[in-house]
Amino acid sequence: METKMLTEKQIDKAAHLLKEGGLVAFPTETVYGLGALATNEEAVKQVYVAKGRPSDNPLIVHIAQIADLKPFVPQLSERAQQLMERFWPGPLTMIFTIQPGSLSKAVTGGLSTCAFRMPNKQMTLDLIKQSGPIVGPSANTSGKPSPTTAEHVYHDMKGRIEAVLDGGAASVGVESTVIDLSEEDKITILRPGKISLEDLQAVVDVPVVYDQHLVGKAETPKAPGMKYKHYAPDVPVVIVRETADFPAAVASYADKKIGLLASDDIIQSLKDEVATTYSLSQKRDVSAAAKHLFAGLRALDRSDLDVILAEGYPSDEGIGTAYMNRLQKSAGHHFFDR
Ligand code: TXA
Ligand code: MG
Repeated sequence: METKMLTEKQIDKAAHLLKEGGLVAFPTETVYGLGALATNEEAVKQVYVAKGRPSDNPLIVHIAQIADLKPFVPQLSERAQQLMERFWPGPLTMIFTIQPGSLSKAVTGGLSTCAFRMPNKQMTLDLIKQSGPIVGPSANTSGKPSPTTAEHVYHDMKGRIEAVLDGGAASVGVESTVIDLSEEDKITILRPGKISLEDLQAVVDVPVVYDQHLVGKAETPKAPGMKYKHYAPDVPVVIVRETADFPAAVASYADKKIGLLASDDIIQSLKDEVATTYSLSQKRDVSAAAKHLFAGLRALDRSDLDVILAEGYPSDEGIGTAYMNRLQKSAGHHFFDR
C-alpha cells in the first residue's frame, strides 16, 4: 500500500480511513501515535504487525472527551476526576479497571485494565471526535526511538499503514507519564514523563510513588512495555553526566568516529574533534533536550559512526526523570567513567 501524507485540512479523510479499519498515524504533544479504531479488533491486531510489537504489550486508548470513557469505565473515582481536570488534555496516561468485555484482548493484552489518555493536540482531538477512540502506541518500529515528526513515522512505517497525519514536530518529545490508579492508598508511576511525581503529588492526597523497577532494577515492571529494550539506535550510546567531562570523554574515543548529542555550548567547544554533532538545545535545558532527544538519536544512527556521546541531566526531578529514563535505555545504562 502507498502511505499517504495528510495535512490538517484532511482530517475528514484520516477519520474515514480509520473508520474503514485502516491504520493512520497521528500527532500528539508527546510523540506520534499509530492509530486504529479501538473497537475494531482486526485493525488493532494490524497495529502489532506494523510495529513488530510483542502481543503481550497493551495499548493506550486515546479519547477526545471524558464522555468517551463511559462505555469502558462507567464509574470514575473522585481522584481520577481531579487528575483529569488538572492534566487533560495533556501528557498523562491513566490505567483503569474496565467493564469486562468492553475492549478486545488485542487492546488490553488480556489484562482487566486499560490505559487511557486525552492528547493535547487540537487536530487530533478533532480527528478522534469524528472517528471515535483510537489506540495509539508510539508509531515507531518496535525498539527504535519514538517518532517526533511525521517524517520519522514515514521512515519507519511507509508501505505498512494507510496514512500519516502531519501535525509538525511534537512539543514535549518524550512519551506520556503512565500511572496506575488501581490501589486505594497510593498512585504508582509506571513510566515517567513530562507530568512529574511532584506535579501529581500537588493534586492528590495519597502518596505518589515510582514502580519498583524504575528505582530498584530487579523487579518486573508493571507496564509490560517497560521491560523491552527501547529507544536504541544501532550505534552505541554513552552518557556523559557532567558538562565538564565532555573533553575527556571525546579524548577517550580519539580513534573513533563520534556523534556528539549535546547543547550548543558543548558542541561549540568540541565540534572540531568529532565526526558530527546534533544540537539538543541552545543552552543547557532539560525540557528542550527532551524535545529533541529522539530526533537526535535517529539523526545520529548512521552506519559511519562508532559511538554517540550524549548529554546527561540530573534524573531526580521534573522532566529530567523521563529524559534520563529514555536516554539510559538507549545507552543500555552505559555512562562515561572518568
Ligand atoms: O505519549 C504516549 O503515551 C504515546 C502517544 C502516542 O500517546 N503513546 C505511547 O504508547 O507511548 P506505547 O504503547 O508506546 O506505550 C504505552 C505504555 C507501554 O509501556 C505499555 O506497556 C503501558 O503503557 N501500558 C499500556 N496499557 C497498560 C496497562 N493496562 N497496564 C500497565 N501498563 C500498560
Ligand atoms: Mg512506544
